[in-house]
Amino acid sequence: MKVHQLFKAALATSLCLTAFAGGAMAQAKGAWQNTSLSPDERARLLDAELTLDERISLLHGPMPLPFPGSPPIPEGAIPGAGYIPGVPRLGIPALKETDASLGVTNPMNVRPGDTATALPSGLALASTFNPKLSYDGGAAIAKEAASKGFNVLLAGGANLARDPRNGRNFEYLGEDPLLAGILAGESIRGIQSQNIISTVKHFSLNGQETNRHWANSVIDEAAHRESDLLAFQIAIERGQPGSVMCAYNLVNGAYSCGNDHLLNKVLKGDWGYKGWVMSDWGAVRATDFALKGLDQQSGQQLDEKIWFGDLLKEAAAAGTIPAERLSDMSRRILRSMFAAGFFDGKPGKPVVDLDAHAAIAKQVADEGIVLLANDKGLLPLAAGSQKIAVIGGFADQGVLSGAGSSQVTSVGGNPVVIPVGGEGMLAAFLRQAYHNSSPLKALKERLPNATIRFNDGRYPAAAAALARQSDIVILFANQWMSEGMDAYDLKLPQGQDALIEAVAEANPNAVIVLQTGGPVLMPWKDKVGAIVSAWYSGQKGGEAIADILVGKTNPSGRLPLTFPASADQYPHPEVPGWNLPEKQQFDVVYEEGSDVGYRRFAAKGMKPLFPFGHGLSYTTFAYDKLKVKGGETLEVSFQVTNTGKLQGKDAPQIYLAGANGQKLQRLIGFEKIDLKPGERRTVTIKADPRLLARFDEQGHQWRIDGGDYDVVVGRSATMTVLSGKARVSQRTLKP
Ligand code: BGC
Repeated sequence: MKVHQLFKAALATSLCLTAFAGGAMAQAKGAWQNTSLSPDERARLLDAELTLDERISLLHGPMPLPFPGSPPIPEGAIPGAGYIPGVPRLGIPALKETDASLGVTNPMNVRPGDTATALPSGLALASTFNPKLSYDGGAAIAKEAASKGFNVLLAGGANLARDPRNGRNFEYLGEDPLLAGILAGESIRGIQSQNIISTVKHFSLNGQETNRHWANSVIDEAAHRESDLLAFQIAIERGQPGSVMCAYNLVNGAYSCGNDHLLNKVLKGDWGYKGWVMSDWGAVRATDFALKGLDQQSGQQLDEKIWFGDLLKEAAAAGTIPAERLSDMSRRILRSMFAAGFFDGKPGKPVVDLDAHAAIAKQVADEGIVLLANDKGLLPLAAGSQKIAVIGGFADQGVLSGAGSSQVTSVGGNPVVIPVGGEGMLAAFLRQAYHNSSPLKALKERLPNATIRFNDGRYPAAAAALARQSDIVILFANQWMSEGMDAYDLKLPQGQDALIEAVAEANPNAVIVLQTGGPVLMPWKDKVGAIVSAWYSGQKGGEAIADILVGKTNPSGRLPLTFPASADQYPHPEVPGWNLPEKQQFDVVYEEGSDVGYRRFAAKGMKPLFPFGHGLSYTTFAYDKLKVKGGETLEVSFQVTNTGKLQGKDAPQIYLAGANGQKLQRLIGFEKIDLKPGERRTVTIKADPRLLARFDEQGHQWRIDGGDYDVVVGRSATMTVLSGKARVSQRTLKP
């Protein structure tokens, strides 16, 4: 959009606002105020009161940030991600939107000094396999957001990790639709428990960041339903988000925000979704996206035109957008506002207990850090007077975080911020920021008798010299990832593999702590003593890592995505579109279909470096007494016993292993349990029948063929402990 257009847009917006302000809150009394009516009915009544201009004003809004050339931030907006003016005449509040996947964000420090609790990354959360932590985290973010005046959280990232190089995998919840769907749904439920609206995003198949505006995700319909769409479906059923954010990419040839099939047929049709679809920021390309199911244009100055402003009004006048559809758009927004209690004397701004929220961040990190290998039993560290070298990764300062719109300016500040620069809108967001939680400091506090020395790792020879003089080495290796870009490959960047090799050669008692936004290759795996995946561990990450290393916390994280042995184990040897110029559309063919991640590894008989679901503990768990019941679906129960000497948490996993002799692998259940030594517990799960089914595109339904279904209980996707089977009856289910 040209600068003068932006100014015009700004003028239009501010004129609108002046008009509202003039109407000075003379709230009309209306039947919609009757709280005994349903949100649907109340929205219908209120919607009928809107003038055309008022209705249109609810359907678009700017990103209230001071980008060069952008219109001024509207009065009444909180600088941040999004703003949709309200209609004071009718008491309709403005929508004040903030990014919130990992905490309330403060992009470009636009609200100077405004910090928030930074939770660990989505992958760390997914590694907890603990839905309650997802709920608690969501509720904590929502309280902070409400206290800052926001009422819509752009949260609930549920895209599956199809490509391990995807720059946003860290924001999402791994590669499995059940795990991602449950955790996203619980986080949304937590958020909305605070009278705040949450989104679920980015609908759908936003599987890579490279040229994301021109990537056409190609997938077979049945495969889509059984994978990414299933994750969204489960998240929506559980969380009932007020809004769904469509994505930047195209899906099977149509932009996801103008995709009749996805929005009208699947989301609003098959799933009966009652909330509204908001666009991603800069993802609208035409006014007729309204006919394809898009209800609201967000961050409008990032689009070529304000499609849902005057242009939409003109289209409505010309009859190309029917009045009924226009009304449906605003009614959906109002419905979500009613459902979230926006009109019913919401409680005042909540009092925020930052210590309690820090404790939630710590808990997520405690349960999300994954002990990948401990071959030499180096961990937990002994409490004696040993000499410990801590190397690299800015471990003396803090823990790494991922970048982009989800980046949180954390409570406690960012002791290290390395600007990355670059061009374009995202450049302002690109910085490698560390949360103020130093693992080195935390280790020193926990091991007062040890001699702990630090080397920054810039020169492998110097690091190796310190390693040689030490009894044990803890080396931090980082992979910084960001929205807007993918990893070029799966190697640790900036020569860190060579650093690890040099250090491990000097002292094989090396513990490698990975801070990454996804899986990385480990050519040095067999030369080191232990490997810990800390992901991006949030504002209490340093303490959480140290607690795992010294055994104060018994590790219980499990991988929510496969760590491959090589990048060739995925369908695309390079990130598709890597070398293409902007604006050139290209296909990303998801030929793996619904066999995302571990399912494809199983189908192809490939051996990963570390499988989905893998994670070690300092205690041991035994599984027995498996019972598998068939019928309409599978009901599985078994007993877990802590057979070791320490209290610990386990996340046993139940997989469908086959149907009628055909081998399959699908996670159908999991549970996080906490057991004292010797304690046992029976775990019972009832499988979501869609996980036993295939999507029958022609019949437009889920179909369970019926027959003998094999079940395994295991410690990971490849480590089976118990197996059983049962007869499941043939049936179909609505899409
Ligand atoms: C991201 C969304 C985010 C929005 C607003 C976009 O670039 O894709 O996830 O909510 O910006 O900041």
